[in-house]
Amino acid sequence: MSARVIVLAAGKGVRMRSGTAKVLHEACGRSLLEWVLGAVADLDAEETIVVVGHHAREVEAVLPVGIESVLQDPQHGTGHAARIGLAGLADGTGPIVIVPGDMPLITGEALVMLLEHHHASSSAATIMSVDLADPLGYGRVVRDAGSVVAIVEERDAAAEERAITEVNTSVYVFDGEQLASALDKITTDNAQTEYYLTDVVGILSSAGAKVTALTVPAEMGNGVNTQTQLAAVSTILRDRINTALLEDGVWMLDPARVYIDASVTVEPSAMLYPDVYLTGTTIVGAGTCLGPNVQVHDSKIGQRAVVQQAVMVDAMVGDDALVGPFAYLRPGTVLARGSKVGTYVEIKGSTVGPGSKVPHLSYIGDATIGERTNIGAGTITVNYDGYRKYATTIGNRVRIGSDTMLIAPVTIGDDAVTGAGSVITDDVPDGALGVSRDPQRNIDGYADKRRKRADEEQG
Ligand code: UD1
Ligand code: MG
Repeated sequence: MSARVIVLAAGKGVRMRSGTAKVLHEACGRSLLEWVLGAVADLDAEETIVVVGHHAREVEAVLPVGIESVLQDPQHGTGHAARIGLAGLADGTGPIVIVPGDMPLITGEALVMLLEHHHASSSAATIMSVDLADPLGYGRVVRDAGSVVAIVEERDAAAEERAITEVNTSVYVFDGEQLASALDKITTDNAQTEYYLTDVVGILSSAGAKVTALTVPAEMGNGVNTQTQLAAVSTILRDRINTALLEDGVWMLDPARVYIDASVTVEPSAMLYPDVYLTGTTIVGAGTCLGPNVQVHDSKIGQRAVVQQAVMVDAMVGDDALVGPFAYLRPGTVLARGSKVGTYVEIKGSTVGPGSKVPHLSYIGDATIGERTNIGAGTITVNYDGYRKYATTIGNRVRIGSDTMLIAPVTIGDDAVTGAGSVITDDVPDGALGVSRDPQRNIDGYADKRRKRADEEQG
């Protein structure tokens, strides 16, 4: 069933009280407009055009290839936007689907149903409506003996019209030619002195054209005009994402406290404890256990890994690796299979080889660590001299003593050892011990002497 689509996305979104275009606000990592375009894609439309205006450049930047835009500037209301959208289509005849850019809960299925209903009923206009217990703020669908005769906006509605609970979702299918002629007749004679697209419904109905409404589940009617509504739709979208993952076999102790972007992949049998945030291009492998309290952005975690109380950005964690509690993996971190990064450890731009461990209190930056190496507690790669960053290379089966300062650039050979507390400025050859610290001396009887002196001073 062929159709053309106009998406309305030029509005200011004044009620959001933010500096961002309304349709670019994000829910589960995807802008409101991208959610809507995702649903529109299911229509397989011949043409889709997005009406942009406020922050036009930024809005155009998120449009997928093949989707055109047309500028509405200034913005004189949804009717004005529809007129500009219609003029921007290569062909404005046949069924025209209009969708607002601020309704991210709309599904492709519902759009297809609406178009089918429009065809089957041979209507000039088909409105998608919802029944809301609290219709405040929405346009009301006015019927006469069952037939739709008008949509009245909240601010223009009489008291008895405000009592109507069937509201307009702002999703419609129109016959293109009838839409064009009705749009020529709308005026700004209303509370907001704007051209209302909703007035088209009354105009068509008075002219004797058939207008029908298809009522869909109330959830889909949630538009986003305020931050409160954005939070509400985000909760619903998050619930949809988590429910799909649970159905796929992912385990969650408390799904209401797991926050996963639409762009993330989580394999079946992964386990997610509360307060896990997975964003961007993150992929989590089967059997991996995350949380509590883990934030992962643009990272890949293999299978059967365990990550607790950690933050990672642009990192890769191999199969069977252990991370945390309390670890920070920064961009360019690669943890090989079976490696461990423990408590109060920060890693940046470094590779930790298979089976190697950085268990406690370390900073590892710009380093390459080989296989089965152990980095003692408190070790720091001193990679920055205030001007440039330098590399540290540590071989296989190395034992770096606790509290070693590795002054980069420096290389520690295979099977080498460093003495605890050493400041290592020069390379340590394979199999050698590198140690740099003052020899210890003990002063016998010190405590007694110290006390005696203190007693004398007191007199
Ligand atoms: C609109 C409907 C209302 C419906 C509600 C559902 C009108 C007059 N009212 O009200 O009946 O119940 O949606 O959510 O249509 N836009 C433009 N150009 C403009 C103005 C708006 O492109 O000049 C776009 C906005 O970016 C937005 C969409 O149109 O995506 C709807 O505009 P909005 O101001 O949110 O209308 P509502 O007050 O929500
Ligand atoms: Mg709205």
